[in-house]
Amino acid sequence: MSAHHVDPGPTRMTAAASAPFTYRPERPEDGPAIDALLDRVLGPGRHALAAYRLREDNAQLSGLALVGEREGRLVGTVRFWPVAIGEAAALLLGPLAIDPPVRHMGCGLGLMLRGLAGARAAGHRLVILVGDPPYYARAGFAPVPPGRITLPGPVDPRRILHVELEPGALADARGMARRPPRSSGPGPSA
Ligand SMILES: CC(C)(COP(=O)(O)OP(=O)(O)OC[C@H]1O[C@@H](n2cnc3c(N)ncnc32)[C@H](O)[C@@H]1OP(=O)(O)O)[C@@H](O)C(=O)NCCC(=O)NCCS
Repeated sequence: MSAHHVDPGPTRMTAAASAPFTYRPERPEDGPAIDALLDRVLGPGRHALAAYRLREDNAQLSGLALVGEREGRLVGTVRFWPVAIGEAAALLLGPLAIDPPVRHMGCGLGLMLRGLAGARAAGHRLVILVGDPPYYARAGFAPVPPGRITLPGPVDPRRILHVELEPGALADARGMARRPPRSSGPGPSA
């Protein structure tokens, strides 16, 4: 098994489950609350990020998106997008955002580990994202080998991270990450 293979095992899941959050699939009616959270947390400038170019004209996999709630209020979001990297299919994770007042309580990790478990159960093999390596290492993410995967926009290559949901999946993924062809495209967006 690859060192970068992630298995949200019982210890991690138990720790996350003990936090005061409820995790559930995103619903269409969550859209406005998620948009407001993303505006607060990441700001409107987020649309200029390289990862957003892969989301434009793409549709998130609404069956995988999760939200975190605390006392009935939506406080966290994670979404996944289909991408193609060379001949390989992969998921792009993001945005992951947690409301500032409830940070450092495990909601971010809880959403990620549950999201990855759902992606694996749905048969996905590889997840990439652009983010801070120390944080995402907690969920099993590691940098991709230099030059292996590029994005359609400027990004620090050290921040392109991956996790294999199936051992060896990264070996098939080389080149520019792009939106998947429409014919094999995703289901409806949430
Ligand atoms: C990053 C983020 C999702 C973490 O959410 P969270 O619910 O606080 O995360 P967790 O509780 O699971 O983990 C918190 C831990 O991660 C650490 N951490 C947070 N951001 C980090 C980073 N960029 N680098 C390294 N460690 C980080 C915290 O120090 C904290 O450690 P501690 O528990 O020892 O205090 C949240 O801070 C956030 O929404 N940030 C702004 C949006 C963002 O940057 N999203 C990621 C890119 S899309």
